[in-house]
Amino acid sequence: MEIKSRFLQACRRQPVDVTPVWFMRQAGRYMPEYRAIREKYSLIEICRHPEIAAEVTLQPVRAFGVDAAILFADILLPVIPLGLGLEFAKGEGPVIASPVRTRDDVRAMRPFDAESDLGYVMDAIRILRGELNETPLIGFCGAPFTVASYIIEGGSSREFLKTKMMMYSAPDVFHALMSRLSDVLADYLVAQIRAGAQAVQVFDSWVGALSPADYETFVLPYSQKVLSAAQAKDVPVIHFGTNTTTLLPLMKRAGGDVIGLDWRIPLDDGWSLLGDDVAVQGNLDPVALFAPLPELKARVHDVLRRANGRPGHIFNLGHGILQHTPVENVKAVVDMVHEYSGSSLSGALAQSKRGNSVLMSMGKP
Ligand code: CP3
Repeated sequence: MEIKSRFLQACRRQPVDVTPVWFMRQAGRYMPEYRAIREKYSLIEICRHPEIAAEVTLQPVRAFGVDAAILFADILLPVIPLGLGLEFAKGEGPVIASPVRTRDDVRAMRPFDAESDLGYVMDAIRILRGELNETPLIGFCGAPFTVASYIIEGGSSREFLKTKMMMYSAPDVFHALMSRLSDVLADYLVAQIRAGAQAVQVFDSWVGALSPADYETFVLPYSQKVLSAAQAKDVPVIHFGTNTTTLLPLMKRAGGDVIGLDWRIPLDDGWSLLGDDVAVQGNLDPVALFAPLPELKARVHDVLRRANGRPGHIFNLGHGILQHTPVENVKAVVDMVHEYSGSSLSGALAQSKRGNSVLMSMGKP
C-alpha cells in the first residue's frame, strides 16, 4: 500500500504542501546518538546487525522530522561478498584489501546474490518498514563508476589515476569490470526495493572527475542498466553526483526520476540544463550548516527561491553532511525549509484559487 508522502509526491513532480527535505548522510558522527553506538560497534558491525542499522536510520528522523529516512548502510558493502575485502581504517576511509587491476582480477570476483549475500541489509529494510509508518524509506547503492573507482584504487582517491589508466590503456578490462558491477548493483538495488525501499538513490559521487566524452563511453551505459532496473520496479529513482555541471544532460539520459545537484551550480541553472520533465534534489553547500543562522537562512531561502515553488524540488545538501556539523543547525534547516516553502507555496495556491473564483464569478469554470 502506498503511503501519502510529500517526498514521494515531489519525486513524481506532483504538487506538495511544503517542500520535502532530507539530508545525504543524515545519520553519522555529527550526532551524539550515533557516536554512542559507534563506541560499541564498527561501521561494518552496525550494518551487519539489522536492528542496530535500523535504530541508526531512525535517529535523524526522530531528531529533525526529516521527510524521508535513508537506510543506514554503505555503498561499499557489496565489495565484501565479491571477495575483495573491506575495512574502514581510522582516519583513512575505506581500504579494499584486494584491488581489481587486471582481467584475471575481474574474473576472480565471486558470484553475487544480493538477497543471500547482503541479507542483513534487506532485514534492516524490513524492520524499518515496520517502524517508520508515514515516513518513506530510501534505499541506495553506489553507481558502477564510483564503486569501480574504490575497487581499482584500493580506497579513496583525488586524481583517480589508476581508474583512468585502466580506462585509457586497458578499456576492455574497464568495460568488463563495469559490466559485472552494473549487474551486481542492479541486483542489489532491486532486492532493496523488493524488501520494501519506497525510493532509491544511486550515488555517483566521484563521476565529476570525468569529461562528458569519457562519461558517455565508459559510464553511461552501465549507470543506465542500474537505474532502469530500479525504475522498472515503479519506485522513484534519484541519480546523484557531484561536480556534474558539464555532465547533467548525459546523467539525465542515463536515467532517474530525480537528478541530484551539488552546490557548484545554482539550482535554477541546473534545472534549466536538465529540463522540466525531471525532478531535482539539492543543493545547499554542506559547509553552510556551519554558518551563523542569518547567513544559513539566507542560503536556504536562496535555494528555495531558485526552485520557485515548481513541483519536483526535494531540498537536500549538495553532498553529504560533514562530520562536525552543528546538530541544532540541521534541525533549523528542516524548519526553515518547511516554514518558508509553506508560506510561499500556500501563497501561490491561494492566488490560483482567487484566480479561479474570479473566473467563476465571470461564469467560467
Ligand atoms: O546517508 C545516510 O545517513 C546513510 C548512510 C551512508 C553511509 N555511507 C554511512 C557511512 C550512505 C548513504 C553512504 C554512502 C557512501 N559511502 C558514499 C556516497 C555518498 C557520498 O558521501 O559521496 C561514499 C562515497 C561512501 C564510501 C565511504 N564510506 C567513505 C569514503 C567513508 C569514509 C569517509 C568518512 O567520512 O570517514 C565511509 C564511511 C561511512 N559510511 C561513514 C558513514 C556514516 C563514516 C562514519 C563512521 O565511520 O562511523
